[in-house]
Amino acid sequence: MKKAKATSSTAALAAGLAAVLALVLIAVVPRLLQTGGEAPAIGGPFALVDQSGHNVSDATYRGKLMLIYFGYTFCPDVCPTTLGAVTQAFDRLSPAERAQVVPIFITVDPERDTVDQMAQYVANFSPALVGLTGTPEQIKPVLQEYRVYARKAEGSGKSYTMDHSSILYLMDRNGKYLAHFEGSTPADQITAGIKKYLAG
Ligand code: NI
Repeated sequence: MKKAKATSSTAALAAGLAAVLALVLIAVVPRLLQTGGEAPAIGGPFALVDQSGHNVSDATYRGKLMLIYFGYTFCPDVCPTTLGAVTQAFDRLSPAERAQVVPIFITVDPERDTVDQMAQYVANFSPALVGLTGTPEQIKPVLQEYRVYARKAEGSGKSYTMDHSSILYLMDRNGKYLAHFEGSTPADQITAGIKKYLAG
């Protein structure tokens, strides 16, 4: 009887320790994802073409925060909604703040998103929105760097949809990861996030 009691109190202690460990993990892990100190390796160099046909790289935007979204211009719903929110979020910044931020849309569908197609598309949202495309060989490593999931879904020929992850990445003035937002984040929360990092 005595022995059984000792065993059960050991089990209780183990369960208690496991619960404490779980709480510590819950508290710490999101912070690792959010803060710069232990920033995960998201992002990296890129060499692409903007909607004016100019060759650009990540270095082109040094000194500004990059707010980057990946999608495709033929996207029926998610991309237009997210880019609408990005445009609103950008417009809600002060002029001085806007000068320090560049919203960037990078295609996951370089086959259809030509420079001209991209130019027409981003013009629907904001003159500040940069639309980047390139060859499939240029796009592929960027998707890997940003851990973007994208693949052709329904359709055939030139008429298809794509499944893709929907995350907004906020990168610092040196092109390093700062934070990310779900694509469905409301504009005012995106604005607040940008302001926080501009102030910091
Ligand atoms: Ni989309």
